Amino acid sequence: MSLINLIEFNRLGDERGGLISLEQNKNIPFDIKRVYYIFDTQQGVARGFHAHKDLQQVAICVKGSCRFLMDDGHNKAEIVLDKPNQGILIDVMQWHEMHDFSEDCVLLVLASDYYDEADYIRNYDDFLTASVK
Ligand code: TYD
Repeated sequence: MSLINLIEFNRLGDERGGLISLEQNKNIPFDIKRVYYIFDTQQGVARGFHAHKDLQQVAICVKGSCRFLMDDGHNKAEIVLDKPNQGILIDVMQWHEMHDFSEDCVLLVLASDYYDEADYIRNYDDFLTASVK
């Protein structure tokens, strides 16, 4: 399993403008139970810094850009998301951080389950311990 798993979405837009459609178990590889979006992120702020035990997510920078750092406990990789037709899969047990949000960044996230704080691993040492198992 690679660290950076990108999903390319078909652009359905035409001369009138852009349009992208997201469908569960089609171009999104799970049932979508929750959608949230991160916007108006203050300059210099980084977010994330956690992994999930069971949750899968796809994050799409629908406007602007931000940099993702992905970490499976063994390797780290980074990618800048800046295309509305590209999503990154945040799989289970992937420590992820989001940095360098542009002022106009709108980061849309589709999640496979409802919000559950018990699914988070927010301590990096706990994550490393869990990820070597
Ligand atoms: P958090 O997961 O810490 O955000 P990030 O990882 O992007 O830095 O979430 C911030 C707060 O919002 C935290 O108190 C939990 C809450 N929250 C919800 O209530 N529902 C949600 O769907 C999400 C993503 C967060």
